[in-house]
Amino acid sequence: MAGEIVRRPLIIGNWKMNKTIGEAVGFARALAAGLPPVTDRDAAIAPPFTALYALAPELRETAIALCAQDVHGEDRGAFTGEVSAPMLRDVGCRYGLAGHSERRRIFGETGDDVNRKVKALLRAGLTPVLCVGETLEERDAEQTYNIVRRQLKEGLNNLSADDIRRSIVAYEPVWAIGTGRTAAPDQAQDIHHFIRQFLGLMAGQEGAEEIRILYGGSVSPENAGALMAQEDIDGVLVGGASLDVDSFRKIILY
Ligand code: PGA
Repeated sequence: MAGEIVRRPLIIGNWKMNKTIGEAVGFARALAAGLPPVTDRDAAIAPPFTALYALAPELRETAIALCAQDVHGEDRGAFTGEVSAPMLRDVGCRYGLAGHSERRRIFGETGDDVNRKVKALLRAGLTPVLCVGETLEERDAEQTYNIVRRQLKEGLNNLSADDIRRSIVAYEPVWAIGTGRTAAPDQAQDIHHFIRQFLGLMAGQEGAEEIRILYGGSVSPENAGALMAQEDIDGVLVGGASLDVDSFRKIILY
């Protein structure tokens, strides 16, 4: 019964390639200082890799967890420049993004790469946040549902129902990322509902009811509440608005 399942809202701030260690630590201290205890929702920051080690002790006593922006699909080896899931676990990450649209589009990540990343995160005991979403051209060509279905299928390929249940999905329409254009809450809800139905085929309907599905793309303190009020929107993945302490705090406390 859908009504009996409580999905804790999750708010993740994705800093992308922003903030030095000093800036990150300053942000964490200011955020922690102004944040009342929150027990009914989860929050996390995804800083650049260089700031993870310094942020871990800053966030330890707070309700904010650490999230990695990316991960390599192998656990170790000759992969110059890459960071593995066991390393992310070691530095204190609880979550890891996989398949962010910037990784797919700018760095050419394929569905298969994303699947390896999801599996690597699960192997290391981290919670994967599988990002999916259509471009403007795909939306205009009425391909939204096909694209989202394909990205889910590829990203979660060969995972057990249990592993799918342990994962998180973020729906981020590419045309809404960094553009100031947000999907209307009811428009986003339709796609989230579709995602949950599709996850039901992969993990069983009961399992799908437990999976948190986040919305991302120009989320702000002004629109976060209306988005999260939708039945199948269980949180937000925030880029630009997570770089400012006050606006990120407002979104956490929406
Ligand atoms: P944005 O980014 O909030 O700046 O649109 C979201 C994201 O890319 O995760």
